[in-house]
Amino acid sequence: MTTIHTIQQRISAAFNAEQFLYEPMRLYTPINYTLELGGKRIRPALVLLSCDLFGGDIEKAVYPAMGLEIFHNFTLLHDDIMDHASLRRGKETVHKKWDVNTAILSGDTMFVMAYDYVAKTDPILLPDVLRLFNDTARKVCEGQQYDMNFETESQVTIPEYMKMIRLKTAVLIACSLKLGALIAGALHDDATKIYDFGIELGLAFQLQDDYLDAFGDTSVFGKEIGGDIATNKKTFLNLKAFELAHGDDLIQLTHYFTDPNIPAKEKIVGVTHLYRKNNVEEATRHEIEVHFQKAKLILESLDISEDRKSEIHNLALGMVGRMK
Ligand code: IPE
Ligand code: IPE
Ligand code: MG
Ligand code: MG
Ligand code: MG
Repeated sequence: MTTIHTIQQRISAAFNAEQFLYEPMRLYTPINYTLELGGKRIRPALVLLSCDLFGGDIEKAVYPAMGLEIFHNFTLLHDDIMDHASLRRGKETVHKKWDVNTAILSGDTMFVMAYDYVAKTDPILLPDVLRLFNDTARKVCEGQQYDMNFETESQVTIPEYMKMIRLKTAVLIACSLKLGALIAGALHDDATKIYDFGIELGLAFQLQDDYLDAFGDTSVFGKEIGGDIATNKKTFLNLKAFELAHGDDLIQLTHYFTDPNIPAKEKIVGVTHLYRKNNVEEATRHEIEVHFQKAKLILESLDISEDRKSEIHNLALGMVGRMK
């Protein structure tokens, strides 16, 4: 059994060994900047952990795992443009440090690079791996479009929100786990189970991200707090607040989210106060727990010794208790 620590070191070493020093520099410098900042590198860790869980050789999973991480980093470049975000991993976002066109094109290049790495898979497995990757990449775009649509929709329901985060976030977490299983040659049913585990874990992970966007600490989270409130994102917190607030609180909440003239700072302070007052924090923590427990039950149903599952279980715990 390989430990999370060993896997994280293997991924770091793999990224450190690659430098994309090509011309024009304006295209590749932002790519190196983003990949060197690193982030948590959860997705490649999940690929390798899942491969190891099913008895595979993690070395065969390193390049495809990097491919998923590069794909994820590409989505961040474009997501930060779409969300008007100025901070990522504690540093200026690419579209702020350079400009929007640079972030678009460097992002596009990373999407192509992601294919290069994903394709470094056993040729026998490649058709299945590409089908999984393509299906996932498309779903992420669908989720991102729902996320944008919802900014200007006022009647979004919690089930619609859950569908949106399943697409924009959970499918890539699930894909990472399934990719590891495919490379290890796991049984079809087991690959499906680990995918389903990833979906529930991914939902909990995005809920936690929404939570931290309002209640986190910039110095740890690495992103600006309140960005979701400022851009009228239909997060779980937003939807729950409209469900829980009544009377004056509901009037104020509606006012904050409908009057475009309120300065962002004032809106963030006001809305966060209303979230706290109406127990939105507790409701979100509860929802995270519900999905985490569902994920745990699926993991438990896999016919593998509990001991071997401990590394994935611990990483999953970190993903929902995370502060960044
Ligand atoms: C950010 O992903 C986008 C979400 C799906 C919440 P991560 O929180 O995994 O970001 P990094 O890669 O660690 O920076
Ligand atoms: C994450 O959504 C989904 C993707 C990046 C595809 P967010 O917009 O919540 O991610 P952060 O908070 O900017 O990392
Ligand atoms: Mg977004
Ligand atoms: Mg964003
Ligand atoms: Mg977020």
